[in-house]
Amino acid sequence: MSGPVAARIDREKCIGCGLCVAVCPDRTLCLVDDKAVICGTECINCGHCQAVCVVGAVSVISAAMDFVTFREDLRWLPFDEFDLPSLVRLMRSRRSCRNFTDQAVSRDVLADLVRIGTTAPSGTNSQGWTFTVLDCRQAVISFGNQVAAFFQKLNNMAANPLLRLAAKLFAKDRLGSYYRRYYQTIARGLREWQEEGRDRLFHGAPAVILVGGTDEASCPAEDALLATQNILLAAHAMGLGTCLIGFAVEAIRHDSAIKKHLAIPAAESVFAVIALGYPAEKYQQVCGRKPVEPRYPRLAD
Ligand SMILES: Cc1cc2nc3c(=O)[nH]c(=O)nc-3n(C[C@H](O)[C@H](O)[C@H](O)COP(=O)(O)O)c2cc1C
Repeated sequence: MSGPVAARIDREKCIGCGLCVAVCPDRTLCLVDDKAVICGTECINCGHCQAVCVVGAVSVISAAMDFVTFREDLRWLPFDEFDLPSLVRLMRSRRSCRNFTDQAVSRDVLADLVRIGTTAPSGTNSQGWTFTVLDCRQAVISFGNQVAAFFQKLNNMAANPLLRLAAKLFAKDRLGSYYRRYYQTIARGLREWQEEGRDRLFHGAPAVILVGGTDEASCPAEDALLATQNILLAAHAMGLGTCLIGFAVEAIRHDSAIKKHLAIPAAESVFAVIALGYPAEKYQQVCGRKPVEPRYPRLAD
């Protein structure tokens, strides 16, 4: 989202190469008398002008992210220099973890993961994502109780044939479809949660990160999900297992009381719930994916 221009140019240092002008997506900068100047009034503060300047004449935003659990290498990595096989190996080695140890995840680690999430792209650079962190098992159980209560209500409704019939007539058979696909599994999961304390929702995870956003961002869902993928990959590199919990996202979407319970403002939507912790399982090999065939449409002029 465009806003006030944050870029500052040091005229003494500027050598008038014009790289910052060329890279600006908002035409906020121009060259006057062989010096870069601010000539626009709006800017998405993406920082490309700062990143491209060879003499350090432009400043927009501090590059420091203050990671606590590791020392960051702040040098920009040139195109083509990263070891691609290592990147793909990381991506393929991340697997959903459904078996966690009891070991707690420290706030430092969780905060670093959130910071890593914010390195993702965001629509018009709005960076409008929000992160809510549950950093102990007791909080995760409390959240789980809310989700369980929601699904208990939904299962009670779905078990009623009259309600399913009404839903078929007025709600595109959504309740019937839920009944056929999920009713049995959810009923078993609820029984295990309530009677045996078995956690088939968060798989016993000691921590949860909820990633959300508000409608003020241009693309809140996409922003949140891109940040989420960064977190999943980084968590693997930090020795943590993760699992996305779509059932929890659904419960929050339909039951505003859960958001309230989690102290998430009503105006925010939650797009991802990440269960995480130290994995109790190790894998021996990566696994495959369905082959895909991209389309290459021939388009009319
Ligand atoms: C949007 C979304 C929702 C998911 N929800 C759940 C969930 O509620 N519970 C669960 O155990 N796994 C959930 N998963 C994990 C998927 O089952 C998993 O990603 C998939 O089987 C591929 O396995 P992998 O993550 O190990 O590569 C979800 C994944 C996505 C992308």
